[in-house]
Amino acid sequence: MGCFGMKLPYEWLEEIISLSIERIVVVNHEGIIVYIDSGYCEFLGMSYEEAIGRPAQDVIMNTRMHIVAKTGKKELEDLQPINGSVMIANRYPIVINGELVGALGTVMFPDPDNLRHFKNKMNNLMEELNFYKNKAINELKSKYTFEDLVGKSPLFAAAKRMGEKVAGSDSSILITGESGTGKELFAHAIHHSSMRSHFPFVPVNCASIPESLFESEFFGYDEGAFTGAVKGGKEGFFKVADKGTIFLDEIGEMPLSMQSKLLRALQEKEIQPVGGQKAIPVDVRIIAATNRDLIQMVEDGSFRQDLYYRLNVINIELPPLRKRKEDIELIAKSLLHKLERKFYRNGTAISPEAIEKLAAHKWPGNVRELENVLERAINVVDGSEIQVSHLPLYIADQEVKRGDQDSNDSIAHKSSAAVVELLKDTIEKAEKKAILHALHVTDGNKLEAAKLLGIGKTKFYDKCKVFGI
Ligand SMILES: Nc1ncnc2c1ncn2[C@@H]1O[C@H](COP(=O)(O)OP(=O)(O)OP(=O)(O)O)[C@@H](O)[C@H]1O
Ligand SMILES: [Mg+2]
Repeated sequence: MGCFGMKLPYEWLEEIISLSIERIVVVNHEGIIVYIDSGYCEFLGMSYEEAIGRPAQDVIMNTRMHIVAKTGKKELEDLQPINGSVMIANRYPIVINGELVGALGTVMFPDPDNLRHFKNKMNNLMEELNFYKNKAINELKSKYTFEDLVGKSPLFAAAKRMGEKVAGSDSSILITGESGTGKELFAHAIHHSSMRSHFPFVPVNCASIPESLFESEFFGYDEGAFTGAVKGGKEGFFKVADKGTIFLDEIGEMPLSMQSKLLRALQEKEIQPVGGQKAIPVDVRIIAATNRDLIQMVEDGSFRQDLYYRLNVINIELPPLRKRKEDIELIAKSLLHKLERKFYRNGTAISPEAIEKLAAHKWPGNVRELENVLERAINVVDGSEIQVSHLPLYIADQEVKRGDQDSNDSIAHKSSAAVVELLKDTIEKAEKKAILHALHVTDGNKLEAAKLLGIGKTKFYDKCKVFGI
């Protein structure tokens, strides 16, 4: 005790150290063990006498005590495998009177309780790490919220309410609807307002994954699973999406063989990486989407019925745009606002007549088609208001029907106010028709067409541009 200059009796120190959950070793400047506690000796399977006075490297596997005794730099929470157990090691230089005289090492024993505690801590750390890693990968975040889903029509509002209601549950959701109705947007919004929002949102386009890669893409593979496998293996979508959401887009395009493998993973709630020894439990929420009629596909035998039921726990059906015409103006304005940012515009408006034309169209491509039409319009508009003439002919040319059963009252009302068309619109329409006819006659030859119409080629080209021909 005297040599350490301590005031406590040596036996006290021994007892204190043995009560602590850490085991302790002390080396001198040369890395020779000058103290080691009895619990540590027991773990190493040697007596105190056998350990003392020997270089640390000869006694403790993977030790760095001799290094810390030389560098004077502490090393904290290092993972150190000793005799088949991974220990948590801390190494501190010992400086007495300003002089580096040796090092103190502590290791935590893999006592079941400690280990569990530490494992939890490690798991949390890993989770946190993954969380930030995933946060950094923008792709894995949901990009839209329910606020981004524009629309007040009853059908759409009902779908939105449903989405909001079920976001908090873990049940699978199947979003159906025609192309461009906003299925992907919905999936983002659901994930965003779920408890899983801090974990990844992993969109997977089922149509674009070759059958041969299905398993490695979805379940990942272990290092060396096959030639060409990336070192360190690869995490599959399920692993990447752990605790988050997988969005299985275009699920109707998935071949039957893949459907079986997917179903198995969903049922077992675990995956087997290619070349992996053991199954890994996964915790993901599934949102699937399709514009196909899955019920019909189940009847045809091209979609597994059991998978259908597993995915279709909650169904959200998105209405086509033609069934929510009252939303068209709202959506158009919101899309214009979005497009303005893209094209560095400001204050672009859209005329009531143009809105009327938009409302009369059937929109087979739904909101995506509307977005394209408006992008084109914003490119050709000269002033700040989009007019009918800035719309593509197939939209500009259609009759605005009164009492169209699909259109809602407010639009119908506006239509009746415009029973008499402006002369300028009538003339434009006639001009367009004449140009199209001339082009038809000349098989698309513009110079010929201009000649037939008796106008100059510059004027002809100008008009074509305005009418979007
Ligand atoms: N309610 C909405 N409000 C605003 N924008 C919308 C709305 N619905 C869809 N969009 C826009 O329309 C486009 C198409 O949406 P999305 O990609 O979600 O459709 P989808 O149903 O997944 O189509 P597909 O079946 O072709 O994949 C997107 O650019 C989206 O921003
Ligand atoms: Mg989509």
